[in-house]
Amino acid sequence: MPLPSESSRLRSALDDRVLGQPDAVQAVVDGYVRWKAGLAGIDKPVAAFLMLGPTGVGKTLTVESLAEILHGDARMLIKIHCAEYRHSHEIARLVGAPPGYIGHKETQPRLSQRRLQEAQSKSCPLVIILFDEIEKAHPDLWDLLLGVLDKGDLHLGDGSSADLRQSMVFLTSNVGAREAAGAIGYCPERSQNAESAARRLFSPEFRNRLTAQLTYQPLSESQVRSITDLELRRCSARVRQTRGVGLAFRESVVNCVLEDCQTPSSSTDQSVATYGARPIRRTIERLLELPLAHMILDGRIGPGDEIEVGGKNRALTFHRRRGV
Ligand SMILES: Nc1ncnc2c1ncn2[C@@H]1O[C@H](COP(=O)(O)OP(=O)(O)OP(=O)(O)O)[C@@H](O)[C@H]1O
Ligand SMILES: [Mg+2]
Repeated sequence: MPLPSESSRLRSALDDRVLGQPDAVQAVVDGYVRWKAGLAGIDKPVAAFLMLGPTGVGKTLTVESLAEILHGDARMLIKIHCAEYRHSHEIARLVGAPPGYIGHKETQPRLSQRRLQEAQSKSCPLVIILFDEIEKAHPDLWDLLLGVLDKGDLHLGDGSSADLRQSMVFLTSNVGAREAAGAIGYCPERSQNAESAARRLFSPEFRNRLTAQLTYQPLSESQVRSITDLELRRCSARVRQTRGVGLAFRESVVNCVLEDCQTPSSSTDQSVATYGARPIRRTIERLLELPLAHMILDGRIGPGDEIEVGGKNRALTFHRRRGV
């Protein structure tokens, strides 16, 4: 039976990338399985998920990871930043201007049937599309979205429509997230905040057309630790692949990175408590990748070297163990 193994492969590939959000990941896998079995995508999109939760907890990462797994490249994802469409006149940039309007011929709409086709790969015809921060969109865009959720039809400026029935649609919103900010650790009341804020903001008409509402949880300290470990391993794999340099991390490295992330800097607050796992990547770039880049350019390390990385006093230390 190919389906169960395919769904468990997708599940485990997503689990490798998105930590600590098992319910959201399972809902996405279920949507994929229904499409693969031919039971979804007939008279509306394959699935439409509203993703709620605080910043930096894996909402966009889930969608990017899905595109990467299905199409081999996260950039196959169509990402629409709704904040760019706060005003009615801006929507022409998204779906094209009506005939007769200035720029009707010249402007290429961000969304069109052709654009949807470009988001399909040889290995998978399922289009992954993300509308980020929908609460910032102009009401006209909401109307367009309702048409998408209802029939899988996106009405374009020239009067035609684009067919989104072979698409999985993701909508993200940070509503209710302010109350959740500052949370490390699971806290059920905070997810209820996001859900009740969503009930206030999104009409029943809209919510009834969703496949599911996925509420992302604030990350626990041990999840943040695992994400740091994952990001370090990713960096290490990149350095080995591109420069032939091996990195071995001592236990102290994760502590050092986390300590740095969790200490709010005086001018800008970069802390994990405020930005979820978002600062981890930037801290690794600064504490690990930048010194490595200098060492590579100066010729101090090169192909065949094995570098042991440790952490001391919020800085990383580098020792060459073996070179050729
Ligand atoms: N659950 C997670 N598992 C692994 N890495 C994570 C997770 N959450 C966040 N990250 C890390 O933080 C980065 C930012 O996460 P992401 O873009 O998914 O945030 P978001 O939830 O979409 O936030 P926002 O609401 O601000 O858009 C990711 O690229 C990844 O490095
Ligand atoms: Mg996001």
